[in-house]
Amino acid sequence: MAYDALFSTVFARMDPEVAHEQAFRAIRLGGRLAAPLTSVPPAPRTVMGVEFPNAFGLAAGFDKNARAVPGLLGLGFGHVEVGTVTARPQPGNPRPRLFRLLEDEAIVNRMGFNNDGAAVVASRLHRLRRTRAGASAVIGVNIGKTKIVPADEAVADYVESARLLAPYASYLVVNVSSPNTPGLRDLQAVDSLRPILSAVREVTERGTPGGGAGPWAADGPGGGAGPWAANGRVPLVVKIAPDLADADVDAVADLALELGLDGISATNTTIARPDSLRTPRATVDAAGAGGLSGPVLADRSTEVLRRLRGRVGDRLALVGVGGVTTPQDVRDRLDAGADLVQAYTGFVYGGPLWPARLARASRL
Ligand code: FNR
Repeated sequence: MAYDALFSTVFARMDPEVAHEQAFRAIRLGGRLAAPLTSVPPAPRTVMGVEFPNAFGLAAGFDKNARAVPGLLGLGFGHVEVGTVTARPQPGNPRPRLFRLLEDEAIVNRMGFNNDGAAVVASRLHRLRRTRAGASAVIGVNIGKTKIVPADEAVADYVESARLLAPYASYLVVNVSSPNTPGLRDLQAVDSLRPILSAVREVTERGTPGGGAGPWAADGPGGGAGPWAANGRVPLVVKIAPDLADADVDAVADLALELGLDGISATNTTIARPDSLRTPRATVDAAGAGGLSGPVLADRSTEVLRRLRGRVGDRLALVGVGGVTTPQDVRDRLDAGADLVQAYTGFVYGGPLWPARLARASRL
């Protein structure tokens, strides 16, 4: 059955989170078997010192706990960004917390960083990196703040996640842009962001405090950064919201340059509910609070990306994410200045053959 038919007859009638869990399980177990249908001609590009098989990857939030990386790569994604992972495990918000706006091929989510916590995800990545498929995979690791940790302890919380996870990351992302952890987006203000990014930067530059006595020491190169990262250091990216005012986008860009970050990911979901939505307002309102993703986000995400490129020149890598749905969207995002392109919502509506179609479009 074609995915469109399967989606409209089966998935669209199921609770979205249950549908996600079932699709996730199928990908985890069977994604690698799809390879004959999903092969993507190699189009390697080096970004932040890391060689990516192609420019297209899966955005954070789909594989929060790093359980399905080989299966997802089997569908054609060039890389997978796992997470958001928080220092402590947490259940996320009560269900229902995931909603589809079918007329817009959009999603509203308020998952709230449900995840197994940094220690568990680190040990999972440790095992994965010891496999042949895992050793060569490009895996971004996205970290966020534990909900119960107060804002004034955010630095230590991010550092804890970075310390545990950076050794297994091809690149690390500091997420300060999810709308679903109270106060998180306030951390995008430069005064709050500076201490977080500089402390995490220390971890990603020097490896572990004290010189490498971490769980990876036995098979890592000793300095804390795994062999999957560039030159023994782990590239660091900050992921921002599309709802920032332009002046705040500029301020984050300047801070990233000042602190020697490697990249910026633009953008996360929006808290806005644009007038351009086709879904009846009552349905949108019934979903309630959360981050909106999908094609309605594309214009603002592209605008932020372009603005960033203008601001930073070629001094930082940029990840273009938000509303990427068609092969043309991938090309447009590359044209707008992205080094890498990611998507999540398009995958939900596009199905298992969709990642390879978009990855093929990401060739130069
Ligand atoms: C997300 N996204 C997300 N981002 C992030 O940095 N950490 C996360 O844990 C999540 N979780 C998450 C869950 C769900 C259900 C969705 C739909 C999205 C945001 C995602 O990575 C991406 O930035 C936005 O969704 C915009 O891209 P798309 O979905 O329009 O391609």
